[in-house]
Amino acid sequence: MRSLIDILDFSVEDLNELLATANDIIANPSKYAEKCKGKKLATLFFEPSTRTRLSFEAAMLELGGSVLGFSEANSSSAAKGESVADTAKTISCYADIIAMRHPKEGAPLVAAQNASIPVINAGDGGHNHPTQTLTDLLTIYREKGGFNNLTIGFCGDLKFGRTVHSLITALSRYEGINVVLISPEELKLPSYIKKDVLQKKNIPYKQTTDLESVMPELDILYMTRVQRERFFNEEDYLRLKDSYILEPKKLKNAKKDLSVMHPLPRVNEISVAVDSDPRACYFKQVLNGKYVRMALILKLLEEADK
Ligand code: CP
Repeated sequence: MRSLIDILDFSVEDLNELLATANDIIANPSKYAEKCKGKKLATLFFEPSTRTRLSFEAAMLELGGSVLGFSEANSSSAAKGESVADTAKTISCYADIIAMRHPKEGAPLVAAQNASIPVINAGDGGHNHPTQTLTDLLTIYREKGGFNNLTIGFCGDLKFGRTVHSLITALSRYEGINVVLISPEELKLPSYIKKDVLQKKNIPYKQTTDLESVMPELDILYMTRVQRERFFNEEDYLRLKDSYILEPKKLKNAKKDLSVMHPLPRVNEISVAVDSDPRACYFKQVLNGKYVRMALILKLLEEADK
């Protein structure tokens, strides 16, 4: 039984297949309208979400299936002390596939080890967010036509930003990638990702605190929110939260075909005045997230039925 816990659970061939299916869904949505008739998706969200939970639910509904679940830990028996393992065994009696978000790193893996249905990691603590990575890959593919020979700037909270960790890991499997890490000192990319991914794969990277100085080099600028919920004290959050605010004047020296991405939600880090710039891709990313989750649900359910 295959689950998606880490983006590396899927080979490059798997990813190519998913992206091809997502592109076909975009081109021919009616072909997929009944593909999951009679199937149920359980969304188990122990942490807040707008895009991930609702895009999973929209994805299953557009495939002709149904959805059940909860959107906060307090409305489940986790509030009474039930373990993730028991929750996974229980939900396996009611649904065909699970999408789980949890504040504890590794919780979706524990769920997958105990469930008898596929489990999708919809974000675990500051660790991984593989379906956001699928969303990002589909967006990059549609905007740039592929993944090779791109310079990608990651800006903001690179320490706690799980979407950054997953996307760097995924991109490390392609040729000619250059990474520019833009963050305050306190929010630098964790050393284990630099060592285990960037250095191990010989991917050229540099670190800077100055966004504007590297802007002209970038093909993609991946902005991130400072993750308030992962800070140990409010004082540090308040000091760091406005480290980077992307405004139209800061894009003056950027490439004409730059793609500005952001997993959202945004707080202050991209001015709304940037939204009308044709280089802003973050709401296209939102829509791509639904299509690639449709492709993922289809793939995991087809494999489970074999
Ligand atoms: N990008 C993302 O994970 O958004 P949500 O927290 O709203 O799901």
